Amino acid sequence: MDKKILADKVSNINYIIYSFLPEDDRYRELICDAASYSVKAGGKRLRPMIMQETYRMFAEGAPETEMLHAFMAAIEFIHTYSLVHDDLPAMDNDMYRRGQLTTHAKYGEAFGILAGDALLNLAYETIAAALMKAKDEQELSRGVKAFSVLARKAGIYGMVGGQVLDVYSEKTEGFKSRMDEIEFIYENKTGALLEASIMAGALLAGASDKDVDQLEIIAKNVGYAFQIRDDILDVTSSLEVLGKPTGSDAQNDKATYVTYAGLDESQKAVERFTNEALSAFNEFDNKNEFLGELFIYLINREN
Ligand code: IPE
Ligand code: IPE
Ligand code: MG
Ligand code: MG
Ligand code: MG
Repeated sequence: MDKKILADKVSNINYIIYSFLPEDDRYRELICDAASYSVKAGGKRLRPMIMQETYRMFAEGAPETEMLHAFMAAIEFIHTYSLVHDDLPAMDNDMYRRGQLTTHAKYGEAFGILAGDALLNLAYETIAAALMKAKDEQELSRGVKAFSVLARKAGIYGMVGGQVLDVYSEKTEGFKSRMDEIEFIYENKTGALLEASIMAGALLAGASDKDVDQLEIIAKNVGYAFQIRDDILDVTSSLEVLGKPTGSDAQNDKATYVTYAGLDESQKAVERFTNEALSAFNEFDNKNEFLGELFIYLINREN
């Protein structure tokens, strides 16, 4: 993976996302600051990147639309809100994220909660505004389909559902997740937003239902690999490299893939899940080479 190409893509994505951030005025300055704080801290922008690249894969050279850009911002707002809330004292209780103090550590717990609420809502406001501006019936119906996938994958049947079992298993005395429960947690807390990213990108470009189903399975496997690598880095990396604290899982006494299988087997699982994703991805005639390279790059990512 060429680091320069990746960095250029990230800065293009940042430009798009920042254009949808709220404008502050006198009495909203605090919430606008708190909501923008974590978005502007950076991050890999993996979800909007996957969405944009999948759109390109199916758009047959058609230009990118304002609708796509709104969805790219929305998925990053939802992901960022999930991190802001994940770091709260009641959840993982972490003080650093994306190389700076977490939102609650900087603004206080109440504003951490409200900043997350604001980002989640902003995601839907952003999509609703884009749907209102759809240029024709086709763009509107594609947008509505993508919206329905995104909303479902962010909620009880996706990310929130995964976070709930994650927190429940951690905070409940005498409860230790079995491997099938860990898989449920990973598929939902992490896989679901990656699935939403790939599926929404494809739907906005007019991909067929069959292709979208195939992409969902690909992203699910990328999600397992991504979360297991995250668990590995929580043990092996450092705050400086990761931008978030290491040892957070151990501190919370969390059962992870790594506590079950050990570091070596876990890294093998990262490779196995990625290969699973890649073999399905390679079946596409129109595959986007960069996206395939990105999945491979994530196997050994350092942050
Ligand atoms: C962190 O996601 C949460 C997990 C699902 C492991 P990322 O590793 O994509 O975080 P950012 O967006 O780069 O900060
Ligand atoms: C978080 O999993 C997944 C989310 C939905 C936020 P983790 O709790 O392992 O993520 P990090 O390590 O804090 O980024
Ligand atoms: Mg967590
Ligand atoms: Mg966490
Ligand atoms: Mg983690």
